[in-house]
Amino acid sequence: MLSFTGDPFQEGLDKTMVHEPDAIVAMAGGRITHVGPASRVASELPAGIEIRDFGKDALISAGFIDTHVHFPQTPMMAAYGAQLLDWLNQYTFPAELKFADREYARSVARTFLRENLRNGVTTSCVYCTVHPHSVDVLFEEAEKLGMRLAAGKVLMDRNAPEALRDTPQTGYDQSKALIAKWHGRGRLLYAITPRYAGSSSPEQLSAAGALWREHGDCLMQTHIAETEAEVAWIKELYPDRRGYLDVYDHHGLCGQRAVFGHGIWLEEPELQRLHDCGAALSHCPTSNFFLGSGTLNLSRVVKAERPVRAGLGTDIGAGTSFSMLATLGEAYKAAQLNRQSLSAGHAYYLATRGSARAMYLDDRIGSIAPGMEADLVVLDMRSTPLIDFRMNFARDFAEQLFIQMTLADDRAVQATYAAGRLVHDRAAEVTTPFP
Ligand code: GUN
Ligand code: ZN
Repeated sequence: MLSFTGDPFQEGLDKTMVHEPDAIVAMAGGRITHVGPASRVASELPAGIEIRDFGKDALISAGFIDTHVHFPQTPMMAAYGAQLLDWLNQYTFPAELKFADREYARSVARTFLRENLRNGVTTSCVYCTVHPHSVDVLFEEAEKLGMRLAAGKVLMDRNAPEALRDTPQTGYDQSKALIAKWHGRGRLLYAITPRYAGSSSPEQLSAAGALWREHGDCLMQTHIAETEAEVAWIKELYPDRRGYLDVYDHHGLCGQRAVFGHGIWLEEPELQRLHDCGAALSHCPTSNFFLGSGTLNLSRVVKAERPVRAGLGTDIGAGTSFSMLATLGEAYKAAQLNRQSLSAGHAYYLATRGSARAMYLDDRIGSIAPGMEADLVVLDMRSTPLIDFRMNFARDFAEQLFIQMTLADDRAVQATYAAGRLVHDRAAEVTTPFP
């Protein structure tokens, strides 16, 4: 069993990483009740409780948390030949136009959630489309599975096809109605979602800021400083603002529970401001490499003098994998290009408790401890012939973990539990038993 009791980037791995070689994790009523060495926990459990033994090559972790993903882009992953702004126009907007059809949206939502669970992702922070029903279908399907999920209707009133645009007023009204319907229902949370400053007018950002002030316990998500061309364009669109972050800040969109995607090209005062206001950055390395956006300097983001909350994101469909292991492998390479090394321990923190903290949910998910919600992933540490072979030469647990994030993928996910319920079982070839 692997879990974290704090932030290894700030306190060090020694103080925060818990590795229990032979563990039992017990759950009841959707929560973790016991965790610890099997020898001790076995004697504490009520008589007759069913125990599933995953064997000595398994690793139990808190479910992975994806802090930035677009479910409507699942059908257009791997779109060839464009960088961000062209990619949006050529591929993304045409794909999102199809979501006018509610049942099509539902079918994509189901595929999306199934892929999450096959990859051990139990929570994500999701962009839907401009259509309010794209939020309804995603939440309806997530609710059936008992998943904790944050999502929101994209707000977009310019620089997008007519059929994908709302207005400051309709976007506000529709989001407000969705908040009333979904926010805090079971495990579901609403994220106010102005797509980015490029597709929202100042009036729309103001309306989003007003809505967030009225519903401060919602999340707020948007994109920031992803590519250099985008940063230059935002400067033209908002000439009166000091920089990209100031565009959002000016409209009341900077604070706790804000999750900003990317942030590769942010400047030092902007990182300081993110720290000061308690906002988070989502690191999306597979997307950044795929679109050629750049390489986030993660160690700069989390530096001790003014750490910014950081989580991990797939950013599907610019991202190239639902696997958080694969995503961590790319986070390692992004760090290498900055002449830094991201240790496996730090990486798994980022995909679990770090991402939970970015979303202000670390009191409920992201780690394994009594009272926490029972979202778990069980990894098979010998999931392919090559990994099986390579593991014979691993000298310690850190190397074993690093092998997984470098070589493994969805095949390593043996089982996924959401609120204590088995929602993916590799052995039974069952994923998401949608009722
Ligand atoms: N910036 C604005 N919209 C998007 C999007 O859908 N994906 C990514 N990667 N960046 C964006
Ligand atoms: Zn994105």
